[in-house]
Amino acid sequence: MKLIFATGNLNKIKEVAQILGDDSRFEIVPMSQIGVKEDIPETSPTIEGNALQKARYLYDRYKVNCIAEDTGLEIDGLGGAPGVYSARYAGEEKNAEANIQLVLKNLAEKDDRTARFRTVIALIINEKEQTFEGIIEGKIDTKKSGNGGFGYDPIFIPDGYNQSFGEMDEAIKNQISHRSLALKKLMDFLNNYPSNN
Ligand code: IMP
Repeated sequence: MKLIFATGNLNKIKEVAQILGDDSRFEIVPMSQIGVKEDIPETSPTIEGNALQKARYLYDRYKVNCIAEDTGLEIDGLGGAPGVYSARYAGEEKNAEANIQLVLKNLAEKDDRTARFRTVIALIINEKEQTFEGIIEGKIDTKKSGNGGFGYDPIFIPDGYNQSFGEMDEAIKNQISHRSLALKKLMDFLNNYPSNN
């Protein structure tokens, strides 16, 4: 069964397909394969709302089984910001370096640097909606370290580690990350999905 992924990001498609494995009867395919090229609106005030909004957009228009995901970094000392606005925290140009610098500046006088990445994946299959959440707890460092990963990785140190996501071996990050935790929950659900459906 094909599941259309509401994203234009091929790295995300690859990551989901890898975690799902080759034996699965589900195949994750990019929305471009059914001719969807537009940017899907993400206007909800919550991460879960955005994931559902993107999945419903595809389902309502194209009547396909589909998945969508949304991720945010929640920093306690900033009242949960940037949260659902993580990609455009420092402006609409979605610049990762500017986002990092703004976080470091806004946290400079704060004692509480605890934070978490939260991913929600929304699945719509045979008209039913389901969401899967993955969270990794950690803290924001006072400076950047490492060149790996993307986004806020150089300033996020997961609990139980003394390296940032930017310094960490990619394979380790992918084992413990918010996205992989949400994906594993999705995979468990799909691999146990009744085959008469
Ligand atoms: P998206 O929902 O995957 O587009 O993510 C929203 C924003 O969160 C991105 O622009 C990144 O800045 C940030 N982000 C998402 N996942 C990660 C991650 O694994 N590491 C660092 N930053 C991330």
